[in-house]
Amino acid sequence: MMENRVLFGDIIWSLDRNTLSEHSSSFLVIENGAVEGVYESLPERFKSFPLDDWSGKIIIPGMCDLHVHAPQYQFRGLWMDMELLDWLNGHTFPEESRYRDLSYADEAYGIFTHDLLHSPTTRVCAFATLHTEASLLLMNKLEEAGLSGYVGKVSMDRNCPDILRETTEQSVEGNLEFLNRSAGFENMRPIITPRFIPSCSDDLMRALGRISVERHLPVQSHLSENPSEIAWVQELVPESSSYADAYRMFGMMGEEKTIMAHCVYSYERELELLQNPNVFVAHCPDSNSNIYSGIARVTALMDAGVKVGLGSDVAAGEEISLFAAITNAVKVSKLAHRISHPEDRMLTFREAFFLATRGGGEFFGPVGAFDKGYEADAVVLDDSSFRTTLRDRLTLSERLEQYAYVKGRDNVCAKYVKGKRLVL
Ligand code: GUN
Ligand code: FE
Repeated sequence: MMENRVLFGDIIWSLDRNTLSEHSSSFLVIENGAVEGVYESLPERFKSFPLDDWSGKIIIPGMCDLHVHAPQYQFRGLWMDMELLDWLNGHTFPEESRYRDLSYADEAYGIFTHDLLHSPTTRVCAFATLHTEASLLLMNKLEEAGLSGYVGKVSMDRNCPDILRETTEQSVEGNLEFLNRSAGFENMRPIITPRFIPSCSDDLMRALGRISVERHLPVQSHLSENPSEIAWVQELVPESSSYADAYRMFGMMGEEKTIMAHCVYSYERELELLQNPNVFVAHCPDSNSNIYSGIARVTALMDAGVKVGLGSDVAAGEEISLFAAITNAVKVSKLAHRISHPEDRMLTFREAFFLATRGGGEFFGPVGAFDKGYEADAVVLDDSSFRTTLRDRLTLSERLEQYAYVKGRDNVCAKYVKGKRLVL
């Protein structure tokens, strides 16, 4: 059933990168699951819609996490003193191999789904593992929780421990089975997920590229995260002119909608391939800091017309709440400006909030804003217990900024996806 309802509260969203639309004590009208409008007084014709009264609370669009590893959630906050390739081999691959055990996957994905449900995120692009059954289990849990987005069965057939490796044929067959069995989901969809070039043979990459293009399926992967990784890719695919060019050679660089996580070193090497309108960069500042990959030149990429959203990149990032990614994106951009790239602008809070909502939301369609016609994903934040003498003098956007920095890891008090209220 398509949802009709009205939310009352202090409503705020991004109109564009630099502009927040702020409406205190206003009505958000949702008709057939989409935003009908925001009003200071409720028009007569909507008075029959059910009203959820969130007086004094902040209502924002649901956030869009463009890059998260569901099977890594259990070890968030651990093993943060290693670089990417050692971290993958030493901890990540062994832990991911445990998801062949469905009862382990059931418990772990239950915890992940519960916490994601209570975070400000409504849309996700998630990596699972290479295990088809466990990937379907994750998709099912996210769908049942009422969340929306994509899950990828991870593809990897080389440079990984035997216990976490498929043959090329097994990987292709597993992908086809995953696609067939995920066809019946309503809000969750499959996404083609080569882990990264080092994990996938040329044959597997070619096969995945073909499946994506033939079935019009989006792609997610990692790109130019770490200097050792980039050098390795150049050895593995010597005929490519850049890491992004290697994805292009295999038909997975914007032929269909594509998310590339990190792109820390992309501005200098492969900007043109990122300027493809089908390509979205998932900027993951927590991950880039924790496994010291570097600082993505996010304002330079944005100013060059590249589409950018935010990713938690759990568990290289420790926080499921995108408020962490928002505030850390601002912080690392200031460090980059001071230390390495004075020519790059710092990122403002407004821009970072835009990236977490409307910027990343574009990957999913008309998502991440309260413009008329947008899919009605909304999150209600309770900042009433936050003690400050300034409270009555703050604008709504200042309240939101302070909440983001100080309280943004707290649970949300209500959440809607396409107008439907989720059971928290
Ligand atoms: N590159 C390949 N796999 C991974 C992963 O699991 N996390 C991160 N941050 N980078 C990767
Ligand atoms: Fe990642």
